[in-house]
Amino acid sequence: MVFEPLFSAFYARSVVKILMKMDLAFTPLELERKDLSGKAVVVIDSLRATSTMITAFENGCAGFIPVATIEEARNLAATLQDPNVLLGGERGARPLQGFHVGNSPRDYRVERVQGKIVIMTTTNGTRALVASRGAEEIFIGAFLNLTAICRRLKGSNRDVIIACSGEKNLFCLEDFVCGGAMVSCLEGSGVDLVMTDAARAAKILYEHFSPDICEMLEGSEWGQYLHSIGLGEDVRICSQIDSSGLVPIYRDGKVSLER
Ligand code: MLT
Repeated sequence: MVFEPLFSAFYARSVVKILMKMDLAFTPLELERKDLSGKAVVVIDSLRATSTMITAFENGCAGFIPVATIEEARNLAATLQDPNVLLGGERGARPLQGFHVGNSPRDYRVERVQGKIVIMTTTNGTRALVASRGAEEIFIGAFLNLTAICRRLKGSNRDVIIACSGEKNLFCLEDFVCGGAMVSCLEGSGVDLVMTDAARAAKILYEHFSPDICEMLEGSEWGQYLHSIGLGEDVRICSQIDSSGLVPIYRDGKVSLER
């Protein structure tokens, strides 16, 4: 019978299940205590650093060099002396003196960043990136590229740690919920997840807020702060689930779109 061989071939294929350990770190400090070797790490700063990076790549930016301090950023720019290199970043969500761009996704327009490399320093996002060094693969994640990240993680076939940037090494709601969205998305894609308590709790909280992610971001402490200094539009932009299919990666000190 034609059906029989077809069925067994299909059945055989459909029983190959991916088993993936899924963990989550609330802050860069907690991430630094974990064994990252051989793992895939997704760094999330949904408000706003990783959302801004993804938006910049959508607008033709060539890459980012994340650094921890303002001084380091200035010194590196002075050393490179390259007109194609910009200074970007924030403190207290406000642009830095003498820098070309801040940390608002709206600063990274095509005419401003196309073909440019940005030396970037932010309070939490670049700190989490620097703390993720030592992992085998490091991806830039946010609500903007949620499904693309899940597809990439599924393809990487590695155990995963979601690295929340937090707020000055304390818990923040928005990154935790974004991490939960990734756990939920992966689970829904047929991957068998072995979750830690942190990953499971994040998934449950995401399911609670999933009907209105923008409302969750606006209600978060950092979301309210951004609103209070006139950056409410950034919160709305950062809530645009799957507005990008890009998955930037961090390797050898640089964030780029190279595979
Ligand atoms: C950060 O990295 O701390 C945040 O992205 C800050 C901000 O929203 O500017």
